[in-house]
Amino acid sequence: MEIEEVKDREEREPEELLHIEHLSVSFEQYQGGMEKGDLQVIRDLNVTIRKGEITAVVGASGSGKSLLAHAVLGILPYNATRRGKINYRGQELTQEREAKLRGREIVLVPQSIGFLDPLMKIGPQIRKGKKDKASRKRVDAILKGYSLKPEVGELYPFELSGGMNRRVLVSTALMETPRLVIADEPTPGLEMKLARRVMEHFRELADQGAGVLLITHDLELAMETADWIVVFYGGTTLEEARASDFQEEKLLRHPYTRALWRAMPQNGFAAIPGTQPYAAHMPTGCPFGPRCSRCTEECLQPVPWKEIRGGRVRCAHTEE
Ligand SMILES: Nc1ncnc2c1ncn2[C@@H]1O[C@H](COP(=O)(O)OP(=O)(O)OP(=O)(O)O)[C@@H](O)[C@H]1O
Ligand SMILES: [Mg+2]
Repeated sequence: MEIEEVKDREEREPEELLHIEHLSVSFEQYQGGMEKGDLQVIRDLNVTIRKGEITAVVGASGSGKSLLAHAVLGILPYNATRRGKINYRGQELTQEREAKLRGREIVLVPQSIGFLDPLMKIGPQIRKGKKDKASRKRVDAILKGYSLKPEVGELYPFELSGGMNRRVLVSTALMETPRLVIADEPTPGLEMKLARRVMEHFRELADQGAGVLLITHDLELAMETADWIVVFYGGTTLEEARASDFQEEKLLRHPYTRALWRAMPQNGFAAIPGTQPYAAHMPTGCPFGPRCSRCTEECLQPVPWKEIRGGRVRCAHTEE
């Protein structure tokens, strides 16, 4: 193919890399005795990842962040059902396509170091079995970039500390040149300098045209690193904002996002009373309704998206 032709094709490609609409994930479970039922843990979830950008997903524990990652990768548990639309590079991301792209074009930095193979040395795990000289050199370079000596390649995961294994997880995902990186809490246990190094690595990949989905509990890290921040609560998305909007509370749109902002140490450490509802008891309207001081009748029905100040929100009470 001529270079011009390749360039042309690249330019025609949509800016959106991954587009998720109305995603739901439910689990078939026994509900006491022999009766089976469906537990819906993700519903009507919407996320867009663009080329060249880092999109952070923030939200409480149990809000569905890892399930989103696993749904895109096609690695949900056997008793899970996924519905809704996932488009990747303008085409539906079918299970067949997922299997082809997984680990190559689309990579996961998993949340748990349990994803490492305990019986395989670190070097071959990062190289994914490749034995050529160039792959070996690349492994050494990646390890060095994360302050790990080449000898680490000859060790097994149990011989490394938690922080070292976490660096190995990141290195494994970034061995190839991915188009879409999904990083599920990639930095716990890492000292600040190394966490920043991981973030710089993501930015380099984005600058080369990849899209990055960064899942994190750490709003401050998201603000420092990401271009966009998507806020999850109770298995759905409540707000999409530019990271720069988090500089000021008044630029934020949803009461839950504002509550997250006020919970940051520099903004007063204010705790949010109440807890996120359990999936089986999710209200039909806004999932934050039961904890929200502005909750009215309208919030008890499904709330449509509103485009405000360059972002989007699902709140009946946010105005321009
Ligand atoms: N295999 C499963 N069967 C039933 N429910 C599940 C299963 N896996 C996850 N869940 C439920 O789905 C919800 C979302 O889980 P998920 O792991 O995506 O949360 P998370 O946002 O990644 O949380 P954390 O921040 O703690 O990692 C939780 O309520 C969890 O209990
Ligand atoms: Mg998780």
